[in-house]
Amino acid sequence: MSAVGVALLGAGNVGGGVIAALGAGGSRYTATVGRPLELRHVLVRDSARARPGIGAAAVTTDIATVLGDPAVAVVVEVMGGEEPARDYIARALAARRHVVTANKEVMAKHGASLLALAEQHGVSLRYEAAVGGGIPIISPLSRDLLANELTAITAIINGTTNYMLTGMARDGVDYAQALAEAQRLGYAEPDPSADVEGIDAAYKLAILCGLAFHVAVAPEDVARSGITRLGARDFRYARELGYAIKLLASGRVVDGGLVASVQPTFVALDEPLARVDGVLNAVQIEGDLVDRVLFEGSGAGPGPTASAVLADVLDIARDIVVGRPPGAAVTPRPVAVHAPGAARARYYLRLTVVDRPRVLARISGVLGDHEISIASVIQAETDEHARTAELVITTHQAPGSAIAAALEVIRVLDVVVEVGNVLPMVGGARA
Ligand SMILES: NC(=O)c1ccc[n+]([C@@H]2O[C@H](COP(=O)([O-])OP(=O)(O)OC[C@H]3O[C@@H](n4cnc5c(N)ncnc54)[C@H](OP(=O)(O)O)[C@@H]3O)[C@@H](O)[C@H]2O)c1
Repeated sequence: MSAVGVALLGAGNVGGGVIAALGAGGSRYTATVGRPLELRHVLVRDSARARPGIGAAAVTTDIATVLGDPAVAVVVEVMGGEEPARDYIARALAARRHVVTANKEVMAKHGASLLALAEQHGVSLRYEAAVGGGIPIISPLSRDLLANELTAITAIINGTTNYMLTGMARDGVDYAQALAEAQRLGYAEPDPSADVEGIDAAYKLAILCGLAFHVAVAPEDVARSGITRLGARDFRYARELGYAIKLLASGRVVDGGLVASVQPTFVALDEPLARVDGVLNAVQIEGDLVDRVLFEGSGAGPGPTASAVLADVLDIARDIVVGRPPGAAVTPRPVAVHAPGAARARYYLRLTVVDRPRVLARISGVLGDHEISIASVIQAETDEHARTAELVITTHQAPGSAIAAALEVIRVLDVVVEVGNVLPMVGGARA
């Protein structure tokens, strides 16, 4: 019984998890596939380092060695980064190797061309691990939910920021302290910008929107703001109002155009996403037939990510054994991308104002001029020394563009010292 040859590009966190799982689950996987899987090559940068679970002969630093081996049927890319990962994936596909990748950056930026290349060469390109780690979401969107007109994706898809936001809510600490703690525990990189600026989540959302709405989406189509401006006071007000603050990735099609954003958002405490804490991820999908489904679980880590990577490997290996050709992906169509202001939401506005009478009247007047009605007002944290006060306003539903236009006026009022955070709100009272 000839084995199905597998090569790994990368043996770090995820690659190490794949190697460990292959070692532990070998006989089970043989039974599942009908033939054993054989790990033939492991590509790394540093071949001198000892690698537990890998024979030294399998370690290489040369992609040509991997692609020159005719017994390799499946190439698993878990190196990360855009290049040379994209180049190696393209070369593997052109050499008629099936590819499994965990690389959200490559799939978000180059997924369409790589999927076309795979189809052209009659091989599969699978990427379940690229979004949500261990959570099955690519496969459900590609298959199980196909009968639906999907209307919305709302997701928490970055574990680092969710860990930090959970800590800020629980411990009352500020952004800098939450980041230091996440870095100490290894949840945040020394350079955290990809996570805290929402870049990582935007890659994942672009992939999800492309699949869910069958449209061509680039990461730049996702409007993005990170969590760096959030302070302990925002969490205090959120709690007082009955909300959590989450970095929400959300995509929907409005008037035939895509509105996609990654931004800190007030999420009502009775919404399931408000209770997704720590490093957990969750993806909520809404469709005309299925209503609402929620996928929740570990979005990262060697075990969960290996679970997703190996599911793709096993599925491809079964196809190879039974001689089933790869299924074609649904062809995406071009879509107009709407500015985020096109969507309506309720908003939380935190302002520092001069502590004197009629300030609220002036601000509410500007909001009224833009047809934005106020739902609630909290006046708190008066600084008697500076003679300023903090004003927290929540609004009824309004277009983001109206909020932005009103803020332009409010920002320059002589009674306004600073516009703090302005965040959309989901769930809770509908108005
Ligand atoms: N970490 C997670 O939990 C997680 C979850 C979901 C998806 N992902 C995705 O999985 C991928 C891998 O992440 P990771 O955390 O496992 O990364 P990692 O720990 O940094 O490991 C990267 C591995 O790739 C090798 N490598 C990097 N650049 C290379 C190059 N130019 N040539 C040859 N080998 C190279 C490294 O070799 P050396 O060992 O010699 O340095 C290392 O073995 C990324 O795309 C990431 O976004 C990760």
